Amino acid sequence: MMSNDAAVSIGDGVYWIGGDDRTATIFEGAFPIPEGVSYNSYLISSKDTTCLLDTVDASIASKFWKNLRTTMGDRKLDYLVINHMEPDHGACITQVLEAWPDVTVVGNSKTFTMLENFYHVVPKNRMEVKEGDTLTIGDHVLKFYFAVMVHWPEVMFTYDETTRMLFCADAFGTFKAMSGALYADEMDFDRDYLEEARRYYSNIVGKYGSKVQAVLGKLKDVPIEMLCPLHGPIWRRDLGYIIGKYDLWSRYEPEDKGVMIAYTSVYGNTGVVAEKLAHLLKERGVSNVVVHSMTTEHTSYAVSDAFRFSNIVFAATTYNNNLHPTMSATLEDMENMAVQNRRYSVIGNGSWAPQADRLIEERVSKMKDMTKVGETLVIKSSLAPEQIPELEKLADDIAASMR
Ligand SMILES: Cc1cc2nc3c(=O)[nH]c(=O)nc-3n(C[C@H](O)[C@H](O)[C@H](O)COP(=O)(O)O)c2cc1C
Ligand SMILES: [Fe+2]
Ligand SMILES: [Fe+2]
Repeated sequence: MMSNDAAVSIGDGVYWIGGDDRTATIFEGAFPIPEGVSYNSYLISSKDTTCLLDTVDASIASKFWKNLRTTMGDRKLDYLVINHMEPDHGACITQVLEAWPDVTVVGNSKTFTMLENFYHVVPKNRMEVKEGDTLTIGDHVLKFYFAVMVHWPEVMFTYDETTRMLFCADAFGTFKAMSGALYADEMDFDRDYLEEARRYYSNIVGKYGSKVQAVLGKLKDVPIEMLCPLHGPIWRRDLGYIIGKYDLWSRYEPEDKGVMIAYTSVYGNTGVVAEKLAHLLKERGVSNVVVHSMTTEHTSYAVSDAFRFSNIVFAATTYNNNLHPTMSATLEDMENMAVQNRRYSVIGNGSWAPQADRLIEERVSKMKDMTKVGETLVIKSSLAPEQIPELEKLADDIAASMR
């Protein structure tokens, strides 16, 4: 399906130009991407008018140029629409301006300020659009919807009224390379991509739920037939599936009943308690239980499961009168990404003056609508046999909270 030397047609005069990057191991200098990531750019070519929508990351620039050149032939590029200025999509903008100096660059006032700040260029021809403005490209009529903070302040979505495609910037994107697929219906998305889509959403856009709600509301009555994001697969079937996920995530509603246990442990004793609690929950019929060791895993996985599950258990050691730094980072990231509206339980450990339980409570109190389940369990170094009934009671309470 995907070709290496030409763009792929995805509809009436619209082409996909993109590719996988499996060389980067960290995204945005922060998030591990062990399975890579993909970047998408789109080209509309109609009645001799050409319009490119965004570019790609520097890592796939040569592939992008090969495909764009082959598809363009000796035609000139008339328009470049910039939906998002982040460099993972804007890396080739200056090269586009060098290749076609007369191109009209379409963006909003924030786009042009960022363009100048990032690349110190002022395009010769600029078209500054406002919310709801339209632009005709041959047979296509493009309409601009601002999607402020659906990642960055300048973000806009471009809706093609002719093909009913929505070019939706980072929204509906995902981590993980595409392995030959172009459309979501060419893969088992739920099985193979949902986790990485959730990790992408929750860590990149998670903080801006109300902004996602605002743009979903704006587009409610727009007849969209295809979602064309800047990362991951294009959606042409069952759009309600991914829009439904975004609706849940952005309202901070749990997606699944289930428990995430996030723990830190220096010598392993807190880990033993976390595993034991997981087992007790399974015994009580809780099918979704995920344990994350924050001392070995990146926080983005726990943030993602905090968006997924109804219940969170924090279990941590005390460390120099403070929280262990990895639990501190986990709580900070959850707070930053506006994790809220969850049930939570607390397990603290300390060898001489346990503080972790109190410090976890302090941090959780900064999150909205968090409801405590069960009694705090405090361990002195390792779980004492006589504390097992307390742990069983905690498992009872967590299981009961999910019924
Ligand atoms: C560097 C360091 C600092 C610690 N500081 C404290 C402390 O301030 N108060 C305390 O009660 N325990 C402290 N501890 C003990 C830990 O909480 C200890 O790891 C825990 O009781 C055992 O649980 P674990 O096996 O899960 O690591 C500290 C341990 C380390 C290694
Ligand atoms: Fe972005
Ligand atoms: Fe992006």
